[in-house]
Amino acid sequence: MTAGLAHPAVRTVEIATEADLIRVRQALRAASEQAGLGLVDSTKLITAGSELTRNILTYATGGRGTLSVEQVRALGRNGVRGTFTDSGPGIPDVDAALTDGFSTGGSLGLGLPGSRRLVDELTVATSPSGTTVTVVKWGR
Ligand SMILES: Nc1ncnc2c1ncn2[C@@H]1O[C@H](COP(=O)(O)OP(=O)(O)OP(=O)(O)O)[C@@H](O)[C@H]1O
Ligand SMILES: [Mg+2]
Repeated sequence: MTAGLAHPAVRTVEIATEADLIRVRQALRAASEQAGLGLVDSTKLITAGSELTRNILTYATGGRGTLSVEQVRALGRNGVRGTFTDSGPGIPDVDAALTDGFSTGGSLGLGLPGSRRLVDELTVATSPSGTTVTVVKWGR
C-alpha cells in the first residue's frame, strides 16, 4: 500500500540559486494551507524544506536540483509531500549523514537530522548519480 493518493496538482520548483529558497518556502506554505496544516506544522515543514534546499545548493552537482510538492491523503488525513531531487554526487553513508554533527562541508551537520525531527516521514534514496530526499508532514 502506498503512503497516499497524490493530489492531481503537483507544483515543481527548480533549485539553482539562493533566490529559489524563497520559491521553495512559498510552494510549501501554499500546499500546507491547502492541506489544512496548522501554522506550527507548516513552519516545521518549511524549515525542513529550507535545509534540504540548502543541501542541494551546497552539495549537489552545480548546486542544482528540483522540488516537487504535492498534497497527499491517507487514513483520513491530509498532508504535504515534498520531494527534493538532485543529480549527484550522492551521499556515501546515509546513516552518518542523518547523525547530528556529521558534515563534510565544515558546517553544523544538523540539516538532515534536524529535518527528520521536524517532519513525520523523511526518506533518503541516494546513489553516485543523485539523491532524492522525500519529506511528508501530516495534518492532525
Ligand atoms: N543533496 C546532497 N547531496 C550530496 N551530499 C549531501 C546532500 N545533502 C546532504 N549531504 C551530505 O550529508 C551531510 C549532512 O547533511 P546536513 O544537512 O545534516 O549537514 P550540513 O549541510 O553539512 O550542515 P548544516 O545543514 O547543519 O549546515 C552533508 O555534510 C553532506 O556530506
Ligand atoms: Mg545541510
